[in-house]
Amino acid sequence: MAEVGIDGIEIRTGKLKLDLAETFAPAQGDDPEKFTKGLGLYTSSFPDVYEDIVTMAANASHRLLDRKDLSLEDIGRIDVATESAFDKSKPVSTYVAGCLEQVFEDDLHHANKGERKFACVAGTQALDDAYNWIRAGRNQGRKALVIATDTALYERDDPGESTQGAGAVAMLIDENPDLVAFSDAQGYGSADETDFLKPNQQFPSVDGKRSMQVYLARMREAMEDFERNGGDTHPDNFALIPFHTPFPGMVRRAAALGFRHCIRGTEVEEEVADEIGHQPREESFDSHDEFLEAQKEYTETLTETEMYSQWYAQTIEPTLAISRYVGNWYTGSVHIARAAGLQEALEEGRDLTGRQLLVGSYGSGAQAEIHAETIQPGWEDELGQLNIDEQIENRRDISFDEYEQIHDVHNHAESIEMDPLTTPEGEFVFDGWGRMGERKYSYVE
Ligand code: CAA
Repeated sequence: MAEVGIDGIEIRTGKLKLDLAETFAPAQGDDPEKFTKGLGLYTSSFPDVYEDIVTMAANASHRLLDRKDLSLEDIGRIDVATESAFDKSKPVSTYVAGCLEQVFEDDLHHANKGERKFACVAGTQALDDAYNWIRAGRNQGRKALVIATDTALYERDDPGESTQGAGAVAMLIDENPDLVAFSDAQGYGSADETDFLKPNQQFPSVDGKRSMQVYLARMREAMEDFERNGGDTHPDNFALIPFHTPFPGMVRRAAALGFRHCIRGTEVEEEVADEIGHQPREESFDSHDEFLEAQKEYTETLTETEMYSQWYAQTIEPTLAISRYVGNWYTGSVHIARAAGLQEALEEGRDLTGRQLLVGSYGSGAQAEIHAETIQPGWEDELGQLNIDEQIENRRDISFDEYEQIHDVHNHAESIEMDPLTTPEGEFVFDGWGRMGERKYSYVE
């Protein structure tokens, strides 16, 4: 049976940039290093007045289909993953399809469209749906378009405001993919949690500190489930490990716990034992709390070793290269981590064909998913065509006053008029409201 995976990827960032250390921190009375050192974030992306989850998704998809020389006839399925939907009935994928039909000669009437919801893990779930659809042979030779698109805004003065971001990732799923092929082995960690949710509201209710604990707990369960299902998590197996990245500091924590887990009982644990001893084993402790304390100390010491630093620099750090400059893209976040890691590897001339990625997705509420991907021979050509660095570089820097207005423009409860800060060119734009309250879009040459 042919391999199935990601054949192509395109990334679209919101066109505005908020400098967190220079602009946001002083206005909020925060130390800039809270962002650069603590959270690991320098700038975040925001949509201009005429951008939203549909325009970002449609612009990424348009470039992807053009670049792959495809027509709409080639696409049999469009799934949009988002936490920022503005319509409870009509899926965002129909709005995106409407945009694409404005610029392509054929249409998408034959394509199955839907919307996936489970916080940030929904993008990965949509990839899974596409994989299953193709594997079942129901695609009739057609490809799936999976789009993760979000405008991740928090209520003003919520601690989450530091981690905002906006952008879309469009992925083409097909047989014999150019970029990565998905593994069959998969692991889940899933529980009914109330750490981050939006019960009929635009901005999330968040228990920030707890959400970090829930992330780590579900990720550990998913890792164990992956191993039970035949996945081998030896660290040498993986060239890169892209995690869901709400902010890089979160991944710094997840990576330390993940590495400790993956080396347990392996020759790597033995090798590092000369320097820092073996990992604590629960049976050697009188109480669970004492065991946890010892485990915490071991993890801290482990992260100070040369072995860990090298592993982190090679396997984790490259995956954060985009996220540091765009903030949290919710459903798209793990997918920009994959792209960032591969893009950095390409720039360094690493030969990754045939090597594996271990992908750790997470959605609040809460569910983590782990699977492996094998990097395909076409990965260098595919990654070489991304223009995300250029987009990041060209964003319009906004002042704090402009940030406040832009936040209001995208707040569904406000009706603020504001002139755009950038000029649209060769892209889909939000174009006002239709007679039934629908959002309307047009293509600007
Ligand atoms: N120099 C260096 N470091 C500093 C610093 C300084 N001057 N000031 C603060 N820091 C460090 C802090 O020590 C902290 O690091 P550690 O956690 O390693 O100790 C870090 O900077 C952040 O500082 P605070 O904890 O004081 O920041 P905060 O109170 O503003 O809250 C947050 C941070 C909880 C992440 C908050 O931004 C938030 O609620 N974010 C939204 C929720 C979220 O992203 N959760 C992540 C898991 S859930 C998920 O992944 C789903 C999703 O996408 C939302």
